[in-house]
Amino acid sequence: MSNCWLDINTAVLRDNIQALQTAVSPATQIIFVVKSDAYGHGLVPMARVAWQAGVRWFGVAHIHEALALRAALPQADILIMGVIPADTAATAAQERFTPMVVNVAHGRALSAAARAEGHHLSAHLKIDTGMGRLGVGWEEAVETFRDLADEPGLAITGLASHFSTVEPEQPDTAMRQVDRFRQVCRTIESLHGKPLMKHISSSRAISFYADWDFDAIRPGICLYGYGATDPAMRFRTAPFLEWKCRVMQVKAVPAGYPVGYYGTHVTPAPTRMAILSAGYADGYHRALSNRGHVLIRGRRCRVIGRVSMNWISVDVGLDEPAEPGDEAVLIGRQGHAEIWAGELAKLCRTIPYEILVGIKQSAEPRYHDHPAPTTPSTAA
Ligand SMILES: Cc1ncc(COP(=O)(O)O)c(C=O)c1O
Repeated sequence: MSNCWLDINTAVLRDNIQALQTAVSPATQIIFVVKSDAYGHGLVPMARVAWQAGVRWFGVAHIHEALALRAALPQADILIMGVIPADTAATAAQERFTPMVVNVAHGRALSAAARAEGHHLSAHLKIDTGMGRLGVGWEEAVETFRDLADEPGLAITGLASHFSTVEPEQPDTAMRQVDRFRQVCRTIESLHGKPLMKHISSSRAISFYADWDFDAIRPGICLYGYGATDPAMRFRTAPFLEWKCRVMQVKAVPAGYPVGYYGTHVTPAPTRMAILSAGYADGYHRALSNRGHVLIRGRRCRVIGRVSMNWISVDVGLDEPAEPGDEAVLIGRQGHAEIWAGELAKLCRTIPYEILVGIKQSAEPRYHDHPAPTTPSTAA
């Protein structure tokens, strides 16, 4: 009896994975990014569906996520894209995780800690080619690789980078990063005498640039159905996380009725309002006050007044049907109407990622497997 819940259609995830697999070369490894509880969709259920669809690599940020995934998928390859502390190196080696090494000191510390417990760790070197975040600067990457080459507890088996900006209209920044990455990879591989697993692209780069796939790609948001709707892109995907709550009260109100805290909406005419069982405590942004819409009985209804901690008020209109107990869709589809996280993100001046991971789940999501609807999605 939760006040709000998630309905997640795993058939759409399968379709999304298949669309991506069809677009990229079979030789390209797909590292499905399932960090942050699979962007709010549920780590283990999403990873299991992907594994069944043929995905073998998964990307997480932290070691606790890797451990949860390992328990569900004993054979999976798990890339830990964040920084693991040295005191977890032996566990990482034992569990066959592939962490990132971000500099010489980090690599040496991981090596020593793994070796001290009789383990040997395989890791990828994270190279900062212009993202300006984690990793060794691209100018020092070759030297770093050389310095770590003889570490007894560590082998660098891959080279990774991450884009800061991918804008097909202004590709210069991304091109500069790719050029640096190519150059560094070439030098390191000739030094090493063997190929390494190279990867740089996440969703936006994957969507536009086949040349940047290298040996592996790290898709996250596009497999959850966001951002891959432009016909110029290499593939299309659809969103499949629906977020729902219930109508708790419906009441007729006169013109001039102030709604909610500080009366920021005053009804211009008589109408009926519905009060819904979700609020900002559940992750429905307060910025959607007087701006957002929800779906009730297949109709878009405008949020009126301030979103409060546990309640949202919407205008259902004077003559339209709406009753306590009706399902209200905060994200998803009802009849022919749709509201996706991209719409909420725009109104909140944020990105769909933040909307999705910000949903606080007070109950287990409900997973189901229905053939995907054919209506084109408007997820942005
Ligand atoms: C290092 C790294 N790779 C890949 C991804 C996936 O990015 P996206 O969800 O845009 O595909 C992320 C996400 O933040 C990331 O941090």
